[in-house]
Amino acid sequence: MLARLCVFVLVASPVALALPDQVHLALTASPDSMAVQFSTQASSSEETVRFGDDCDNLVNTLESSAMTHAPFTDSGDERYTQYHHVGVMTGLETGSRYFYQVGSDSGGWSEVYDFTAAPARDAFPHRFGVWGDMGASNAQIIDFVKQEVDADNFDMILHVGDLAYDFQNDNGHNGDVFMNNIQPMAARVPYMTDVGNHEQAQQFAHYTERFRLLPGQNSSVSTDNGEAPNNWYYSHDFGNVHFISISTEVLFVPKRHEHIRKQHEFVENDLKNVDREKTPWIVVHGHRPMYCSCDADCDSSAHRVRTGGYELERPWLSLEDLFFKYGVDLYLAGHEHNYERMFDVYDGKTTQTTVNPPATVHIVTGDAGGPEQHEVFARDQPDRTAFRTDAYGYSRMTVHNDTHLYWEQVETDTDANVFNKVIDSVWIVQESHGPFKQ
Ligand SMILES: *[C@@H]1O[C@H](CO)[C@@H](O)[C@H](O)[C@H]1NC(C)=O
Ligand SMILES: *[C@@H]1O[C@H](CO)[C@@H](O)[C@H](O)[C@H]1NC(C)=O
Ligand SMILES: [Fe+2]
Repeated sequence: MLARLCVFVLVASPVALALPDQVHLALTASPDSMAVQFSTQASSSEETVRFGDDCDNLVNTLESSAMTHAPFTDSGDERYTQYHHVGVMTGLETGSRYFYQVGSDSGGWSEVYDFTAAPARDAFPHRFGVWGDMGASNAQIIDFVKQEVDADNFDMILHVGDLAYDFQNDNGHNGDVFMNNIQPMAARVPYMTDVGNHEQAQQFAHYTERFRLLPGQNSSVSTDNGEAPNNWYYSHDFGNVHFISISTEVLFVPKRHEHIRKQHEFVENDLKNVDREKTPWIVVHGHRPMYCSCDADCDSSAHRVRTGGYELERPWLSLEDLFFKYGVDLYLAGHEHNYERMFDVYDGKTTQTTVNPPATVHIVTGDAGGPEQHEVFARDQPDRTAFRTDAYGYSRMTVHNDTHLYWEQVETDTDANVFNKVIDSVWIVQESHGPFKQ
């Protein structure tokens, strides 16, 4: 790993109203680009991004006119407005380290952050940190995952929904606290997300606005803050993995049922067009699980995710059938505040294998810690479940090549001083990616 060579000097006064904060990165549809979003408390359309491969000489400037500057008002009592700025750094060389800084001369500049551009397809391993359901308070894993980022252990982070608990609390300031809590990680490693049920307030305004930088769709959504790009479901590649984010929430919020069909069409079209030579692994992630075993969420709610809203609308293939038809390797979810790793599951049945599984492998990793704390398993462990625990923790997913993926669960609950306490690990092996067969 490269040492951080630069000595960073903060130049801005922390009282400046336009001082940028909540800096975070996301991958885009193109591997030679990285999107960055940040916010300012004062209106400014002068914000820019400067970046380069030498931290003392950030030669590239993303002009303000090439960026998006969007006001966002929390619609609580205080009518609190902040301004979000999104820029896309392009022309990046695969696997190279870059340095960047966001801000403006009038408002002040952030510190200089570094990140690594997406790797070449075969620059294995590809290392992902995965967790769900992390609050602004009681974020039990955060010191551990920050250490992982400082040690350069993650190429991408995936937070499978329920962020902050809730963004809109304290008139939206709780959302700022959360975004600033994750900033030391999210400003250095792309922080990809799903929308969860705790993001429902104000018609999903906070999630939609705070994550404007996500790859998104060529369509828009409307929230209490107005129109914004549709980032509720999206896809992108990383190395040899194709990721698809879905919104399980459009299945549960009646006002959003118009998205059931749109999302279904998006997922099917996207799956149909995956080049399995280029990205043999397909990982779909969303907030609520299709299968779990802790409580009543695992009945009608899990059923609705499996159908993909099918019972509410006209009869297409269920989401679970789509995953089977197109050979989705993994479905990752949270929502249950525990960890439950399953084997292959299709239509409730399992062959209990992770070597050439004949159906999608399901994993729930929703125990990062938040004000709602743990969720116990009130039901017996089913055959489809390989390992489960309600201890706090996070997951690591390491793709070693086209056939071998290593999955680990790190517990942060007991003996919290023990870094790297892996309590579950498994090789998921697939030698023949593609449609599953009955
Ligand atoms: C987005 O969709 C509109 C209308 O369907 C189309 O005119 C436009 O070219 C699309 N833009 C991109 C970038 O695909
Ligand atoms: C893929 O990685 C696994 C685990 O490191 C290794 O055993 C296997 O030989 C690798 N396969 C190829 C084709 O390199
Ligand atoms: Fe949830």
